[in-house]
Amino acid sequence: MADMDGFREANNFGFGQTAQFDSFHVKGASNLPWGMKDRLSRIFNPKTGRVVMLAFDHGFIMGPTSGLERIDLNIVPLIQYADCIMCTRGILQSSVPANINKPVCLRSDAGTTILTELNRNVLIDVEDAIRFNASAMAVMFSAGDGEQEAITAANLVEAADLGNRYGIPVMGVTAVGKQMARDARYFALASRVCAENGASIVKTYYCEGFEKVAAACPVPIVIAGGKKLPEKEALELCYNAVNDGAVGVDMGRNVFQSENPAAMIQAVHAVVHDGLTPEQGYEMFQDLSK
Ligand code: 5RP
Repeated sequence: MADMDGFREANNFGFGQTAQFDSFHVKGASNLPWGMKDRLSRIFNPKTGRVVMLAFDHGFIMGPTSGLERIDLNIVPLIQYADCIMCTRGILQSSVPANINKPVCLRSDAGTTILTELNRNVLIDVEDAIRFNASAMAVMFSAGDGEQEAITAANLVEAADLGNRYGIPVMGVTAVGKQMARDARYFALASRVCAENGASIVKTYYCEGFEKVAAACPVPIVIAGGKKLPEKEALELCYNAVNDGAVGVDMGRNVFQSENPAAMIQAVHAVVHDGLTPEQGYEMFQDLSK
């Protein structure tokens, strides 16, 4: 016993001291295993707890949409300013250099395109997430869409089961059901269902009453940017979202369709991590665009 006390003293392990890893910087993740926490720490900055995820997975549904025609020219130069990238395995393998040293949120479901009514998505092989060293797997959940709800819920549950087996967190991507209102009630339900089914991150949309959506979701929420807005409005969206409880953004079109994507992602980063107001962020965007 005396020896043990000596050991504690020598190593500064006094009783009553709290080890610094007792409280983890990612909401709802304190009880997760080490590998999951390591991956989440690559995504969420341990200093701010926040993230700017650059989303360019749109092609698997939309094809070469505006701004995503050339990943090598339009997207790769932006990756340096993102904390994390979100894309499909096809784009990762074909177009993203393997030495970018950024965490990857791998789009892990695939299926029908915008040309088809019902999205019968399937999961990609989880071993691909391991092979690509993914820090998270992104899987859609479409609440309120009948058969599509059942298909996407099954995908989400399967991804969470496999993610738990291999230590890879799942990001639930809430899609907006065709009959559903884009309101806090719907997004709160969809976000909560993702978390209840095992998602460690939820991607949803900003809306009026968003603070209730964020508060009722036991894991971190990142917001999608949605359709292209004028830059200042997009920065307002980021600012309001983080102030109302989001931990960051998973943004695509408002970055890569901007008149200056590199300036825009840097301004978004400053709003999310450094607390710049939308006005300051827009000023930064304009300065960087000169
Ligand atoms: C598409 C997605 C997108 O990655 C997500 O919506 C973010 O992109 P944007 O900011 O353009 O909405 O998950 O399924």
